[in-house]
Amino acid sequence: MTDLHSLTMNDGHAIPRIGFGVFLVPEAQTRDAVSTALEAGYRHIDTAAIYHNEAAVGRALADSGLDRDDVFVTTKLWNSDQGRDSARPALEASLERLGLDHVDLYLIHWPTPRRDLYVQTWEALQELQQEGLTRSIGVSNFLPEHLHRIADLGGALPALNQVELHPTLQQRDIQEADTQLGILTQAWSPLGRGADLEIPAIDLIATRLGTSPAQVILAWHLARGRLVVAKSVTPSRIRENLSAADLVLEESDLDTLDALEAGVRIGPDPTTFTE
Ligand SMILES: NC(=O)c1ccc[n+]([C@@H]2O[C@H](COP(=O)([O-])OP(=O)(O)OC[C@H]3O[C@@H](n4cnc5c(N)ncnc54)[C@H](OP(=O)(O)O)[C@@H]3O)[C@@H](O)[C@H]2O)c1
Repeated sequence: MTDLHSLTMNDGHAIPRIGFGVFLVPEAQTRDAVSTALEAGYRHIDTAAIYHNEAAVGRALADSGLDRDDVFVTTKLWNSDQGRDSARPALEASLERLGLDHVDLYLIHWPTPRRDLYVQTWEALQELQQEGLTRSIGVSNFLPEHLHRIADLGGALPALNQVELHPTLQQRDIQEADTQLGILTQAWSPLGRGADLEIPAIDLIATRLGTSPAQVILAWHLARGRLVVAKSVTPSRIRENLSAADLVLEESDLDTLDALEAGVRIGPDPTTFTE
């Protein structure tokens, strides 16, 4: 699966840089959306137990006729399943819904620090990896303090940290901690859930280059060393987003996007999110 459009994680496995996300895609629409994405050339699908659409992702994967090893599948452990004994049944249930015998990446969805279970959950994920139920393991929405607590255990480090990251919320402290620890940073809501597409400075760059604001934002993420999981249910946008991998921006345009940081958070704050 290694090519110019992939990165290698700290466990040696390759991961395609642009993933197709299905958060908020209703179960009934998910099969078509994922099928369109796979036909367009995506080889990385990002779902989660809490999205309630893993079964539809599994049907689209089966329909595609693609070899299992040619598609990178991520799912996530929901907060209420954290703990040494509940992680295994949670992953087994996800695999059953997906119709797979392993996923490529299993993430702890949120640290939910008030539960104080993410450390033992991380230890459980390492066992699941050793048994082959998931090739790689990682985390999502982890702040530097959560990453350091896991690093201090001295065992495996997360392969990546999937966090909210877009031009108006750049999470530089998290990116720095990820980089120091050799953990890849993957942006969720890479387009600011659509809101950052309206920024005039991004539109100006897109117009000058004859491309779209979405492609400019996604190309910026990739140029800054991040992976992305972008979502669309619109076939033309699904294709447009994937071809951002071929867009190379000049350093001055990258700097323009870097300067758009504004602390605009779309999702919950990991410090307080306990759902
Ligand atoms: N780990 C976590 O806690 C977490 C949390 C949230 C999301 N995620 C992951 O990240 C993925 C993406 O995040 P997201 O869905 O919140 O936000 P996003 O990908 O930044 O934005 C999606 C929105 O942008 C629109 N859009 C997509 N491509 C476009 C284009 N080329 N031109 C114009 N509009 C475009 C989509 O509209 P249409 O669909 O109508 O085309 C949709 O409204 C999720 O699906 C999920 O896999 C993870």
